[in-house]
Parts: sequence; structure tokens; C-alpha cells
Amino acid sequence: MKIFHLSMECYPVAKVGGLGDVVGALPKYQNKIEGIDAKVVMPWYNRQFVHDHDFETVFDGFIHQSHHMFQVQVMKERGNTLGFELYLVKIPGLLDRDNPYGYWDESQQFLAFQHGVLHWLSAMKIRPDVLHCHDYHTGLVPFMVEHCPEFRFLKGVKTIGTIHNGEYQGQMKWEMLNYFPWINGETNLGLLDWAGMINPLAAMLKCCHAFNAVSGGYMEELYHSLRGLETLVQQEHAKAYGIINGIDTEVWNPETDDMLDFNYGKEDAEQGKRRNKIEICEEYGLNPDLPLIGFIGRFAGEKGADLLPEIVWKSIRQTHGKLNIIVLGSGDKDTENRLKDLDDHFSNFALDLGYKEALSHRIYASADFLLMPSRVEPCGLNQMYAMRYGTIPVVRYTGGLKDTVQDITTGGAGLNFAYPSADDAVNALHRALNIYADKKLMTNLIAANMNFNFSWEKSAENYVNLYRK
Ligand code: ADP
Ligand code: GLC
Repeated sequence: MKIFHLSMECYPVAKVGGLGDVVGALPKYQNKIEGIDAKVVMPWYNRQFVHDHDFETVFDGFIHQSHHMFQVQVMKERGNTLGFELYLVKIPGLLDRDNPYGYWDESQQFLAFQHGVLHWLSAMKIRPDVLHCHDYHTGLVPFMVEHCPEFRFLKGVKTIGTIHNGEYQGQMKWEMLNYFPWINGETNLGLLDWAGMINPLAAMLKCCHAFNAVSGGYMEELYHSLRGLETLVQQEHAKAYGIINGIDTEVWNPETDDMLDFNYGKEDAEQGKRRNKIEICEEYGLNPDLPLIGFIGRFAGEKGADLLPEIVWKSIRQTHGKLNIIVLGSGDKDTENRLKDLDDHFSNFALDLGYKEALSHRIYASADFLLMPSRVEPCGLNQMYAMRYGTIPVVRYTGGLKDTVQDITTGGAGLNFAYPSADDAVNALHRALNIYADKKLMTNLIAANMNFNFSWEKSAENYVNLYRK
């Protein structure tokens, strides 16, 4: 069975968040299943990985609507340690920039990517069994495959849409139809429409053969909360599934992770974590004898990052400085500025603004607790990485966090809190402090967290079962 994953991100080529992690791991685990040949197609970015590896051009094409030449390149087999075949679509002047997102013409970028991929597959007579579309950026593919005569060779190919984040839907004005591949007069343009705009996520749900959310908990939420698409989800419920993400346990392994200051396993987890903690505390001027709370992530409303300043302020004040907090992330400027002020004010607080892959690994290893006050969390990978590294997750009970972190009061090894508010989060941190004071409990919880198995094996299999269906 030939599967093509279409995505804007893929680790280690280009990662902005969890989407990159998932697309960098899922195909690799799928390829371990007999009879599965999973490949990834993504845009070409001006990134180190692309320059450091050899690629060969396998197709040259032209997108008439936007007058762009494009190329499809494949990563040369020798030196490809990714675990899957990787294709890059390069569109000079449009899709050849540094980052996946944030450009004024991103609707055109995503459209051209989808157009280019389907044009290449049709022209080369490559007919996959499944086109697996990740998020709205590739959400128009199911529509294009069925309704654009230019791709009639692909008509009938099965399409799966995965919702990693329904907060973003990619709405565009109807004028953008000019950039679509040719559509004939009989096509039902209503398939593209939601609330008077072209809505790629809605089009994906309407036109794909099946769609899934990245956890069962999030799938349940989408029936009554999807930024206006709830009724569509209800309408299309027969195609809806929830499949929880896994983590790449080869990349995320405290025993071998070369980004850590010190490696450790289950046997020496406590000493190992402590040695890592001492390093980081020294670097950031924190006291290694206090419990260390970490936060890693985008400063966005979904992540509850705007609550961090109040959480930092209140928890340090209320505990009379009995904890340390380290925050790694960037995004909303107001949050950044408020956190910078706190960084100047409190010696118990450390802030590192930016995207730093290695530092994130070091924080997962050295923190005692990882805080996630998310308002919306489709799956969340941070909590799973934390657990694998023996760090106790303190999470708001929502979406994928509900499915992966159980409170110690109900037999789990983490802490849950109900509302995305600073006070609820601070209360949970008070509980964390009590746990930290109980050495035996800490030892047990570190071990229990490291014993969870979140590997991709099972979820990769679940996706394959869905393809087979
Ligand atoms: P999302 O995709 O919504 O941002 P996830 O929990 O699925 O959330 O995944 C986030 C991924 O991005 C994790 O691998 C996390 O470690 C990483 N990450 C987030 N922010 C940063 C940062 N500032 N520096 C390094 N890694 C980060
Ligand atoms: C999105 C979600 C996150 C999820 C990730 C990977 O970015 O916000 O919760 O883990 O996708 O599926």
C-alpha cells in the first residue's frame, strides 16, 4: 500500500511544532508494518537540512494559474536515515523561503503546493493508494482530486485528513478561486464554502474519505467546539475517528539523547535528572535544590501562555520562593514582555525566548514538573516527552491531555487541573510542591512516568487499519 503524507512540516527537515514531530515519525513507524510504503511530500525550505543532504530533481512543471515553474526533488537514498522517502516541492519565488508560515501570501503558497503535488503525481502517472493530508494547509487536496479535471488520473484515490489543530482553518476570499486548478462548470463549489468563504478545513471534512483528530478526547470536543465547524463535524460523523499521536522513542530517549548534558535510564533516573538540573540551574542562575517547573511552547492563547505571567508571579509569591520556573518559547509580544519583566524581577524565574530544540530536550530532562495550562490541546506531545524523561506533567484536563495524563488521585502519575486559569494552575503547583517534599512518592512517580509507553507502534497501526478500511 503506497501512502503519501502531505505536510508543511516534517522533523528534522523543518519543524515549528508537533505537526513536524508527527510527520517525521509516523511514516517511519508505518514503514515497519508489512506491506506499507509511506512517503512524505513537503515544501522546499531554505533550511540547513536541505543544504546538508543530496536531492535529485525528478520533475519539472508549471502552474498555469499563478505562472510559477516548480520542481519536485527526492532525497537521495544514500544518506537517508529518515526511515521514509522524502520529496520536496520547490516553487522559486513562492515556496523557497526560510519558514513554513507567516508570509503575506501563504494562501497562495499552500494552494500552489497542493496544485504542484497533484500535477506531478498525475503527469508521472503515480497513483498512491492513500493521500494523507495534514491540517488545512493540504485540506483542499481531497476536493482537487475528485473535482479538478486536470487530475482525473487521480480520481478515486482515497484521501484521509488529519486535524492537528482546528483553530486554524485557512479561510480565504472567493477571488482566490482564480488560483485553483481548473474546475469545470458542473463542479459543486459549495464543497469549498463555509460561512461565505472558501474554508480549506471544511472542504477537507466534506470531501475526504475519512478524517481524524489527533486524540479521542479532542475528537469528542470537535462535535461541539470547532470554531464554527461543529455542525459540519456532526454531519460528517460517519467519517470521523480519533487516533492519538505517539512519540518517536528513538529520538526521545534519555539514555541516548545527545542533546542532554548527561544521559540516564530508568535505573539511574533520579541521579541523572539531578545532574542535568544542576547544569541548567547553574546556567540560568537558579537554585538546584528547589523544585524546577518547566514550560515549553508557543506563546499562543491555545497553550494558555498568556496565563504564565500571573502563574509565575503568584506561585513564587505564595510559596515564598520555594520553587523555580523556567520558560522556553516565543510568540505573543505582550506575553513575552510581561515575562521579561518578571525575569528581571525574580531570581526564581528564568526565561529563554526563541525556538531551541536542544534546550527543550534539556528542560524535559532536568525539570521535576512540566506545566501545560492549555485552553485547547488536540494531542500535545510535550507531556509525553516529559513523562519519557521522568518529569511529572501538570496539565489542564482537556483534549489529548485528558487521554494521556491521569491524576495521582485516580491512580495516574501526573496532576490535572480543571480550568485554564492562573489560580487553578497555581493550586496544582502547590500540590506539586507537596509531592516534591515526599521523596519516596517522587521516586515512584518518576518511575511510573518513565514506564508509560507512548511509542508510535500502536497508533501507526491504527492509521493503517483506517487506510485499509
Ligand atoms: P504544538 O504543535 O501545538 O505547538 P505539541 O505539544 O504537539 O504542540 O508539540 C510541540 C513541539 O514543539 C514539541 O516537540 C516541543 O518540544 C516543541 N517546542 C515548542 N516550543 C519550542 C521552543 N520554543 N523551542 C524548542 N522546541 C519547542
Ligand atoms: C497541533 C496541536 C498539538 C498536537 C500537534 C501534533 O499542533 O496543537 O496538540 O500535538 O498538532 O498532532
